[in-house]
Amino acid sequence: SHVLLLNGPNLGTLGTRQPEIYGTTTLAQIEEMVADEISARGWKVVSEQRNGEGELIDLLQDHGDALGAIVNPGALMIAGWGLRDALADYAPPWIEVHLSNVWAREGFRHTSVTAPLAAGVVMGMGALGYRLAAGALTRLVTAS
Ligand code: DQA
Repeated sequence: SHVLLLNGPNLGTLGTRQPEIYGTTTLAQIEEMVADEISARGWKVVSEQRNGEGELIDLLQDHGDALGAIVNPGALMIAGWGLRDALADYAPPWIEVHLSNVWAREGFRHTSVTAPLAAGVVMGMGALGYRLAAGALTRLVTAS
């Protein structure tokens, strides 16, 4: 039994990517934080980051048996229709995370095509958002 942590385009460079917006926590550190929450339940985390939409879709199809997922679609939130269709067909509960508060940023980030399909959304909490999402997901999974 595992939880899928899925990060989309440009999230592999967290730590040095526009730190004034995304902070200085690396993806490896985020993975540790999420694993910390999830392992308290005795579950594993499978963490994957891809820049390409097709690869992210493949991963969702490969992990349809996960207990749940945490997904940061990156800029695919804006017009990632293929990813959206994959998430529409994704049965496990999943939570969308954005490090930044996208509502406080450029207008083109104000709508997420994927967020309406999520069980919940955490945004604007930086790397901590992933930990919060992991805690919420463990509760969602154990309640269902
Ligand atoms: C992001 C917000 C997106 O708009 C942006 O394209 C990203 C990161 C976030 O985590 O704040 O790549 O998903």
